[in-house]
Formats: sequence, C-alpha cells, structure tokens
Amino acid sequence: MVVLDKVLQKKHLSNIQELVLKLCWKGYTYAEIAENSGYDDDYIRDVGFRLWQTLSKALGENIAKSNVKTVLRRYYSNLAPAESQLSTTTAFQIPSSQQQQDWGEAIDVSMFYGRTVEQALLRQWIVDEKCRLVMLLGMGGIGKTALSVKVAEQLQSQFDFVIWRSIRNRPPIVDLMRELILFFSQQTEANCPETIDGQISCLIKYLRSQRCLILLDNIESILQSGETAGHYCAGYEGYGQLLRRVGDEVHQSCLVFTSRETPSGFTAREGETLPVRSLQLTGLSQVESQQILATKGLVDSTVECDKLIQRYTGNPLALKIVATAIQCLFDGNISQFLQQSPVVFGDLWEILEQQFHRLSANEKQVMYSLAVKQDWVTLKELQQYLIPQISERELLEALLSLQRRSLIEQQSGNYTQQTVVMEYVTDKLMGQVCSKIPVGEIQ
Ligand SMILES: Nc1ncnc2c1ncn2[C@@H]1O[C@H](COP(=O)(O)OP(=O)(O)OP(=O)(O)O)[C@@H](O)[C@H]1O
Ligand SMILES: [Mg+2]
Repeated sequence: MVVLDKVLQKKHLSNIQELVLKLCWKGYTYAEIAENSGYDDDYIRDVGFRLWQTLSKALGENIAKSNVKTVLRRYYSNLAPAESQLSTTTAFQIPSSQQQQDWGEAIDVSMFYGRTVEQALLRQWIVDEKCRLVMLLGMGGIGKTALSVKVAEQLQSQFDFVIWRSIRNRPPIVDLMRELILFFSQQTEANCPETIDGQISCLIKYLRSQRCLILLDNIESILQSGETAGHYCAGYEGYGQLLRRVGDEVHQSCLVFTSRETPSGFTAREGETLPVRSLQLTGLSQVESQQILATKGLVDSTVECDKLIQRYTGNPLALKIVATAIQCLFDGNISQFLQQSPVVFGDLWEILEQQFHRLSANEKQVMYSLAVKQDWVTLKELQQYLIPQISERELLEALLSLQRRSLIEQQSGNYTQQTVVMEYVTDKLMGQVCSKIPVGEIQ
C-alpha cells in the first residue's frame, strides 16, 4: 500500500479494487475472489482488468495479474529508505516520470543472496566503462536470470529506458525488433523497416540518442542443438546480426543477455578493454547457499550441510530442489538424504537432459569419457579413453564447445566435470549399458 499511495498519488482504489488486489496478491484466482466476495465472476475480472490498466498507466510499465506482485515489490524496494523502512536500498532512486520500463516476465528477486562481486563488476562494465554488449553465461539453474533482473533493478536509474524480455518461446526476430523500436520510440515510430538490417539500423538510432538497457534472457533457446555450441537455429540468424551490430556500432546503450551457451561470433569480439564482455557464473558461496536452503526451511550448519552444498556446487536451483526433497522425504535429515538419494533428480535431471540432448556426437563421447575417468584428465589421456577415437582437432573443438556450454571445468590443461554433471552422465551411461544387456542375463 505504501507503493500504491506513492504511485497513485491523489487517486485512491475503490474498496472492490483493493479487495481484488489483496486477494490476487495472495494468489487467489478471479473465480475464487468472486466466490469469496459474493460478486459475479465477470465483474471481478472486469475490476481486475481496469485495475491493471490504472496501475500500468501510473507506473509506466505493463502490469497484469501475473506480474503485479513482482512489479510492486520492485517499486517498494526502490522507494527511499524512510518510506520503505529498508535501510539497505539507499543506492536506488525512484524512477523519474521520463523513464520508461517494461519488465515483461522478469522474476521476483526480492530474496536474492550474494553475487556482490558479480554485481559490482557488471556495474563497472555497464555504467563506468559503458560496455555495449554483456553476456551472462552459466549452466542451468546457476542464477543467470535472477542476476540479470537484480542488476537491471540496480542500474535502472542510469537509463532512460529499461526493457527485459525472455526469448524462451523463440519469438521471431522481426517481432522482437518491432517491439523494441516501438518501446524506445514511445510508440511513435510509424515507419518500422521491413528488413532485419533496416530494423537494426532503426533500433541503433534510438540506442544512440538515448540511454537504453535491453535484457534478453535465454538466448540458448535460439541456438542449434546437436552441433558445436553457438550456431543459430535456421530462421533465427537475425539475432546474431542484432548482437553483432549492438556490440560493434557506436551508441550509448547496453544489451545484456543470458545464455547457457556462448553464441558464435562472440569470443572474437569480447575482451577486457573492448566494449563487449562476458561473465561466467559459478555456484554461490557456502554462506549464501545456506541462505538458499533456509528459504526452504532447511536451517543447518553442520559438516553434512557443507557436504550437501559442495555436492551441488552452490547451484541455487539444485539447492532449492534438494532442500524441498530433504524436508518432504527425509524429515529434514541431510545425512540420510546424502546416503540414500540419487544426486540428480526432478527438475535438475530435466535441465541436464535438455543440456545433454543439445550435444554433438563427439561432445557426448567426451562427456562419457570424463564421467568414466571421475577425475582431472589431460587432453592426451582423454584421447586414449575415447571409443571410437577422434582426432586431436576434433577433441579440442569438442572441449572448447563443452566449455562454452558450461558443462566442463578446465584448469591448466586438465579437464573434468562438476559432481552433479558427472553423476548425471554416469547415470545415463549406466542406463545405456543396462539397456544393451539382454533380459535375464543379470542374476
Ligand atoms: N543469488 C541468488 N539468491 C537467491 N536465489 C537465487 C539466486 N540466484 C538464483 N536464485 C534462484 O535459483 C533459481 C534458479 O535461478 P535462475 O532461474 O536465475 O537460473 P538460470 O541460470 O537462469 O537457469 P536457466 O539456465 O535454467 O534459465 C531461481 O529460483 C532463482 O530465483
Ligand atoms: Mg534463466
């Protein structure tokens, strides 16, 4: 309500609007609200529709039932400390009325831990060094999306426009470009060009004349699977053109994107003194991981808990999944879980399946060999393990590609996998071996 008073200023919500907002906030459906309040279903829907319109207008961004909580929470955290009673948000500013923001389906990051080094580095790149293109890279669940939203929230006052979009549903590039151009022109660009090149030129015109922050999440969705990492799917090459030109051409804006894999053409462009940078995310620290476990009610600081965090290398999604399993299936007993449970299951298995299915035949071979070896190996050792053998060039290409997909670890010429990945690949390998043994042969 503090936020609403602030954004609606003299206007007040009617009693029914307030009721709809409160119950939507608690996760009720329109039908449930209607049932609770004795009003007609359609009437409540209509109240909701008008309410989101009023709030969208007042806040200058699209608000719907699905994102109202996230948006209002964000505004709350951006209010001055005296108003929000939060002393930790002093660095933020209330967006001025000139600022335009569209957060799309950005996730709620009010419970966000750590990543202080990454946040400082991104601020340095984006604000101080005026980088034009920044990539956040890392394996599934490591926290790319969460960090992208957090950083955008923190840096919003530095930009005239902020827009956050997920590419997970693979929108055609022309649709995305039209949306960006209309947003940055405040719906005034009447002659949106037809060609990709023309659209990108038009976009860059706006990126030059004003400070715009664009965040694109899940770029890996438009990269091909079954090939060396980084090639665009047929029909989506325009995204490559967009990233290349935003990185290469002079303007005063920044495009940040997240991906599980590095898109091709990126490596040659990025560099410490260039306006194109990439940040590889690794797991959270012990303390931050404990905070994640605590959000699921698992409060523990024993050696067992440390083992659990190490096993999942501080991957926040993995920690959330296992904390829930430990609570529900093991009455919160971590050591029982560690002794009895498979390392990879549920959503975590799903994510690794998705990542594994994208690999080329050579990459899969390398993954199996690394899992069999269970330890650091050199290039030469690895080559001996591979059946069928592949050339040194092919092996190098596969290793490079796996690194760009964040699936292997590299240290001075030695390679291995993270525990979770290794367990997953071992399970897969065992599954393949078992399926090849005729029924009845295992006694
Ligand atoms: N620093 C953090 N503090 C608290 N929660 C976090 C943090 N980082 C990530 N999370 C949570 O962990 C989960 C996974 O994070 P996120 O969705 O950002 O991962 P991702 O790298 O984008 O994964 P994917 O590749 O599948 O898109 C989310 O529920 C997110 O809110
Ligand atoms: Mg994500």
